[in-house]
Amino acid sequence: MPYAHITGWGMSVPEQVLTNDDISKIVDTNDTWIRERTGIQERHIARADQFPSTLGYEASVKALKIANLHPRDLDLIICSSSSPEYIFPATACLIQDQLGATKAGAFDLLAACTGFIYALNMGAQAIRSGSVKNVLVIGAETLSRFLNWKDRNTCILFGDGAGAFVLQASDQPGGVLSAVMHSDGSGADLLTIAGGGSRHPSTEATIQEGKHYVQMEGKEVFRFATRVMASATHEVLACAGLTLDQIQWIVPHQANIRIIEAAARGLKLPMDRFIVNLQHYGNTSTASVPIAMVEALEKGQIKPGDKIVMIGFGGGLTWGAVAAEWTGPIPSKGHVRPERYRLFARLRSLVRRGLRFIEGLLYRREL
Ligand code: UT7
Repeated sequence: MPYAHITGWGMSVPEQVLTNDDISKIVDTNDTWIRERTGIQERHIARADQFPSTLGYEASVKALKIANLHPRDLDLIICSSSSPEYIFPATACLIQDQLGATKAGAFDLLAACTGFIYALNMGAQAIRSGSVKNVLVIGAETLSRFLNWKDRNTCILFGDGAGAFVLQASDQPGGVLSAVMHSDGSGADLLTIAGGGSRHPSTEATIQEGKHYVQMEGKEVFRFATRVMASATHEVLACAGLTLDQIQWIVPHQANIRIIEAAARGLKLPMDRFIVNLQHYGNTSTASVPIAMVEALEKGQIKPGDKIVMIGFGGGLTWGAVAAEWTGPIPSKGHVRPERYRLFARLRSLVRRGLRFIEGLLYRREL
């Protein structure tokens, strides 16, 4: 059975930074409260022309470059997002087109902030089954578009960004070692964007009621999160046959420093075993774990051979964890530059649209 190795990684965040002081000019809050209650200092907010596919594409190109893999060699693209570009088509298809990943199947996965953990496991399982060899897993968000900038309970928390991993099949043991996924829909109403779906299609009334905004019972989600972080870690380690002392790094969903500190106390681990970067990005939902991973790799914190546990939790309610051994890129010949392929991918996309148009004309004549 092939192993699923993480051979490429990349992240992208918008340039625009919104500090706590900036938010305090919009809503009744202040820097001290936000820092003390959440640990967040600033977050990145997308420009009007930046979308999950824009950020997801940029993160993917970086990940493919590190993996030295051409987009056309991808078999599958899974994009997790809590702020997808459309209900459909899938954001994964938009990224597939921009990359020119002509052979890849593409779909979105929705498990709120746990999405990347679920997607990573699904991608790894597809490789383990032997049905695919190369998978791109993306977490991409512009949740700022769904924030009520008059609601200080939510607008201080979230930020925009994307992270991507390339998974590749190998006979060498390592890569994704085990995963657990959980849900509890009895808590579905605790964290929602209720409007715009088929239950509450967008109308003047749903807009007036603010159903198109993120709504959250912060305290309840907080309690749930502190409970599941330690249990999911123990569970995923038991599945991999590992103990906590064999793990170099815990990479948790970056929602609130107090949740991470509570998990550290629960696991009886010092905070320096946790990767934390929420101070600069806020909660980027499905993108938070890969963004934290990429930064830790770039700083040289995580090294090949290290064993890590990634943990997610969020709306649904959902939670899960992945245990992995960090292998780094698989050595291969040549230097793939996926960003140089962009123009060709655009041309290809235009040609395909043109061909569909001509096909439509011919088909009409046949009728
Ligand atoms: O990725 C999805 C998962 N989401 C999460 O993990 C979020 C989990 N929840 C949380 O992180 C925390 O519950 C929050 C950060 C959202 C809120 O922190 P809290 O410690 O639970 O605060 P609270 O809601 O109990 O509010 C405490 C006080 C209240 O004032 P009173 O009633 O004690 O006078 C609030 O009105 O703080 C007030 N408050 C604020 N003050 C300044 C609430 N929000 C703010 C604010 N600025 N932004």
